[in-house]
Amino acid sequence: MVKSGKPNQISLKSHAQMALMRRSGKLVSEALAICRAMAVPGTSLINLDSAVEQHFVSHGAVPLFKGYPGKVPYPGSTCLSVNEQVVHGLPGPRVLQEGDLLKIDTACRLDGWCADAAVTIPVGAVSSGKERLCRVTEEVLQLAIKELAAGLKRRGLWSEVARKMQLHAEASGFRMVTQYVGHGIGESMHEPPQVPNYYDRETVDHDFRLVPGLVLAVEPMVNMGVAQTKVLRDHWTVVTRDGLPSAHVEHTLGLMADGVWVITSDRDDEIVT
Ligand code: MF3
Ligand code: CO
Repeated sequence: MVKSGKPNQISLKSHAQMALMRRSGKLVSEALAICRAMAVPGTSLINLDSAVEQHFVSHGAVPLFKGYPGKVPYPGSTCLSVNEQVVHGLPGPRVLQEGDLLKIDTACRLDGWCADAAVTIPVGAVSSGKERLCRVTEEVLQLAIKELAAGLKRRGLWSEVARKMQLHAEASGFRMVTQYVGHGIGESMHEPPQVPNYYDRETVDHDFRLVPGLVLAVEPMVNMGVAQTKVLRDHWTVVTRDGLPSAHVEHTLGLMADGVWVITSDRDDEIVT
């Protein structure tokens, strides 16, 4: 989500509430799996968006991106960002081509509880650079989950996790995007706290402790070239300043006494300890 200056008034969730979030998380994970199977050369972005929307609606869930407030309300149920597009790419008639790097981001609410996740998918065979970018970005998210589990045990700070995420991206020769952050999630898709994927003064000033009941949407965005981004004139699509590719992955993660619940996992009841 877009960074803002709002204060951190964090709401903690009960075991029962997190169990409800797992149900919306499962729908999000299934929607992403449907897209993964459809993401071949020749598929249009709008078809992916329709498939996701239909999956949510047919299961009684609400797509959360549709109508999201902005300069113009968000028009789709997914963000579909290709190659140099970082996040918030609009579903339209564009047709996927062999070699594209596609980011799919979506969220739904079921019975009052939200889940949000994103994947990066290579379309057909992609360049080795794109493949490595994709792998490293996935590693950054897995690292965050492991560090969250470790930090939860010692009631550590988010900034320690963020620092390790940034270091891994940079040690791999890539740059972490700092203009967008992850977020708390629960009855609303965007709740405090802001969850930056990097370590700086602001991260430390808005730091929070890792305690049971926290639910975070962690969403690293990693650029092959410069970190800087800009928004296109459609008011939504975020692209890299240098036109080089970007990757983005996201999971909704619940901190509980028994470990980190991967709420949007494709495996049932995944817990990382
Ligand atoms: N996962 C993204 C975020 O948390 C997607 C938001 S898209 C929007 O910012 F349409 F809802 F804005
Ligand atoms: Co999100």
